[in-house]
Amino acid sequence: MIGRVKAQTVETGKLLADWIEDRTGAVSMMEKFLYEPVPKRGAWLYTLGSATLFLIVLQFLTGILLLFYYVPTVDHAWNSVYYIMNEAYFGQLIRGIHYWSANFLMAVIGLHMARTFFSGAYKAPRELNWVVGVVLFLLVIVLAFTGYLLRWDQDGFWASVVGIKIGSYSPFIGGYVVNFLIGGDVIGPATLSRFFAIHVWLLPAILAPLIGVHLYLLRRHGEFGSEFEYTERLAKLKERQRLEEYERRYGLGEEEEERRE
Ligand code: HEM
Repeated sequence: MIGRVKAQTVETGKLLADWIEDRTGAVSMMEKFLYEPVPKRGAWLYTLGSATLFLIVLQFLTGILLLFYYVPTVDHAWNSVYYIMNEAYFGQLIRGIHYWSANFLMAVIGLHMARTFFSGAYKAPRELNWVVGVVLFLLVIVLAFTGYLLRWDQDGFWASVVGIKIGSYSPFIGGYVVNFLIGGDVIGPATLSRFFAIHVWLLPAILAPLIGVHLYLLRRHGEFGSEFEYTERLAKLKERQRLEEYERRYGLGEEEEERRE
């Protein structure tokens, strides 16, 4: 009985998928978008980029939910966070996910960066994608930094003071950037407004399309070291070795000698 129900469910699922594919082409499009061959060796390390993507999407979603209650003013910010933690339905859970996935994001993005570096994925033709990645990394750091002040407690406040002080020592632009961030002589209402605008509007608006560019470039060149690339490189290497071996045994052909002269 259970076997028949299971078989029927699978059959219905297949029919539904076929129908959707026939009418929209969505199934093959998803396959094209999601499936990318990766080298067999160390294949799990190639999931770190997707893990980063997952965490950043989680940040966007939980961040939007937090905005339903968070108030970005000096006299309400802390209270609104307190309300989220103690009164709002699932507030503690949503804020916890936002907080922990921000921490994991920093770790996972670092690991993803290390994987691409140590597997040599930054080399041509992927150097632009590496540069886009570095910009993404810097933006994510600023995202984490600006988020810290928003809770408007002693922890966030003094961490921001330290961060801003460090930034002020940057050569040439340090002073201007700090003035722009603080928006006055001391950290106060203007600073909170600015950090809020940067954290909630500016950075996500830059990050989202840049992640799109990152993924587009990835699709354009494929994963570094995928089997296809290895096969091609190995074929070229073998061809070169074969020619060198020929040269060593029989010397250069007449045409080649003339060309080299
Ligand atoms: C918001 C941050 C980021 C997201 C969402 C993201 C996402 C991804 C995804 C999904 C992939 C394909 C899967 C994989 O190889 O793991 C990928 C590949 C890649 N990423 Fe990132 N990434 C981010 C940050 C970075 C950073 C910080 C760097 C380096 C500075 C970087 C450099 C690369 C490179 C070079 C590739 C191509 C890998 C290859 O061809 O083997 N990415 N990224």
